[in-house]
Amino acid sequence: MSQFTIHKTNDYDSMSVIAAREAFNRIKKGLVSNEKFVFGLATGQSPIGFYKELLQLLKQEPLDLSHFYTVNLDEYFPISQTSINSYYVEMMNQLWKPLSEITPTFNPTKQAFIVNGDTADPIYEASAYEEKIQKLGGVDLQLLGLGVNGHIGFNEPSSARNSRTRLVRLAEETIEINAQKFFDGDSAKVPVQAITMGIGTILEAKEIFMLVSGNKKAKILAETINCKNPSSENPASFLQYHKKVHIFADDEAAKYC
Ligand code: GLP
Repeated sequence: MSQFTIHKTNDYDSMSVIAAREAFNRIKKGLVSNEKFVFGLATGQSPIGFYKELLQLLKQEPLDLSHFYTVNLDEYFPISQTSINSYYVEMMNQLWKPLSEITPTFNPTKQAFIVNGDTADPIYEASAYEEKIQKLGGVDLQLLGLGVNGHIGFNEPSSARNSRTRLVRLAEETIEINAQKFFDGDSAKVPVQAITMGIGTILEAKEIFMLVSGNKKAKILAETINCKNPSSENPASFLQYHKKVHIFADDEAAKYC
């Protein structure tokens, strides 16, 4: 059933460069043929090199980004948008701000969207975000990382294939891992909830790029690719139901593939 296109690379840097070049070409083509492009963004360690390379490419060949929009996968709840641990700040520093400096046709205030983790009404926020994506005409290219437990976005094990943007509870394992780089290393400071695009939302993207690197991801990546019956036990396995998934994996992550 799986129709993944797998790009194996030597290391993290070449994974980032190859994936960013592919994405740049999609964006360039999409902006010309559809006059707009909606890019679904991911956070975490996996896309850091990708964003750096994408910015390089856009510096070398500036594009008119007046009709380029970004929608992020997820955000902690509750969290203030000004918190250094928020995905809002992570995206502003890694992509939106440098992108607006290179290409003034990109205005983050009007073109970059992420759920507000500071909302008083997370249920409304989640459904409004789902609607926002529809209004933009859907996601052209969705970037994903892969959690060691198979999560995509914050769709933890037990998430349903048809789930939509919603408030979720984080797995203990995710809280521990995410405290390693943020929240002063203190897992007690990590919010236990988040708002994430659902698996059904992700599967509606026209194309998906998943970035996977390092030994820790090798087992779950092999399971994601090879499992015969996609199930909620490994949410990423549902990607098998999508026809256009590209997996960019370095040697360590792809060692069982
Ligand atoms: C996080 C994020 C995901 C991310 C994943 C993998 O918890 N919510 O969007 O893709 O875990 O993160 P990393 O790339 O740091 O391994």
